[in-house]
Amino acid sequence: MLKIVIYVLIAAVVAAAAGGGFHLYRVAAKNKEEMSRYAGQPVEVTRNFGKTLVVYYSLTGHTRAIAEKIAAKTGADMYEIKTKEKLNGTPWFYLTLRKQLKAKNYPELSGDMPDFGTYNTIFVGAPVWWYTMATPLYAFLQKADFGGKRVVPFSTQGSNVGTYFADFAKEARNAKVLEGASFNNLPAEYAQAEDNKVSRWLNDLPEK
Ligand SMILES: Cc1cc2nc3c(=O)[nH]c(=O)nc-3n(C[C@H](O)[C@H](O)[C@H](O)COP(=O)(O)O)c2cc1C
Repeated sequence: MLKIVIYVLIAAVVAAAAGGGFHLYRVAAKNKEEMSRYAGQPVEVTRNFGKTLVVYYSLTGHTRAIAEKIAAKTGADMYEIKTKEKLNGTPWFYLTLRKQLKAKNYPELSGDMPDFGTYNTIFVGAPVWWYTMATPLYAFLQKADFGGKRVVPFSTQGSNVGTYFADFAKEARNAKVLEGASFNNLPAEYAQAEDNKVSRWLNDLPEK
């Protein structure tokens, strides 16, 4: 009997590992195909968005890196969404987060809200958490009123944005939401292609 239980357990672990491996293989293949469309010489950003602000939340740095690229290419100011208590990516955090999202229980933010008044265009980005926006972005959007400004969402994620952009459009009060862009976490070999993806997205947006 014990032998059978052990065999079943081993089979389950092997199946899970194979499934995980296959998922990673498919994500890598999709990333390769997407980035091949952006490979090549650096793309210059020609759009003028007027006075621009990039608002972002980042736990481990990926969203910050994209936010910094957008700011560098548009000459924007930056505003970081910060939580009062530092969040961490432990497995416990990952598990409790799902309940928090369901209960709309978002973390308290620190610092003053930015003044959107002087900006023509506001980019807003965060990581995807559980197929939607990271809870600090929900907390930020609860407090924000964009007063009819042009707002451009962006995300970073492993591979699946889920309902991030639909949820953003629902939560962003008085925002004229423009076409967003999502950025998978990528190996360093795609750095130039990813940079070109940011530029081409910006060049496809309407000017102020
Ligand atoms: C709690 C948690 C939940 C996540 N959920 C998803 C998800 O649903 N889909 C996905 O593709 N990536 C998911 N990820 C991966 C992150 O979206 C991705 O690594 C992101 O680029 C991290 O951004 P940051 O470095 O700015 O924090 C999750 C990461 C964490 C920590």
